[in-house]
Amino acid sequence: MVREIITYPNPILRKKSKDVEVFDENLHTLLNDMNDTMMSAGGVGLAAIQVGIDLNVLIINIPIDNEGELDDGMQKPENLIEAINPVITHKDGELVFNEGCLSVPGFHAEVKRAEHVIVEYYNRDGEKQTMEAEDFLAVAWQHEMEHLSGHVFIEHLSFLKRKKFEKEWKRELKEKGKK
Ligand code: CO
Repeated sequence: MVREIITYPNPILRKKSKDVEVFDENLHTLLNDMNDTMMSAGGVGLAAIQVGIDLNVLIINIPIDNEGELDDGMQKPENLIEAINPVITHKDGELVFNEGCLSVPGFHAEVKRAEHVIVEYYNRDGEKQTMEAEDFLAVAWQHEMEHLSGHVFIEHLSFLKRKKFEKEWKRELKEKGKK
């Protein structure tokens, strides 16, 4: 079931998420709904807090082809990552990536991230997993993890870019409100 995506500047997005303690049917429903929501919105990642649930749960599905190379095409169900209580255990390198976010629809900005990460998390059945990620996938992990700690990618903008963004965003919200 598609759930409503919470958008900036809703204060719910600033909430720090808590660890999942029970891997039950409710968690599975949340994961299924998050995938429906992400796919219908055309996103590549979603954190539970973006649908108003303050649990350390995130999903990622980036479009890659059979060789594991980035691909503009379809997101494949088999590439879906479901991560419960994720922790980044290692970061290195640096890259700048043009990011977007389903909670800040229509806005993109360049953000500096680690180029390579190692993450530990649990799958939906409570089994521990380890994953190494580079480039776009590493960026997606860092972006979604940030949501779990109550942050949004626009916080990386420089002072002036942030001011410009806030001004434009307010104007857009006002226009949407008029409709
Ligand atoms: Co986001």
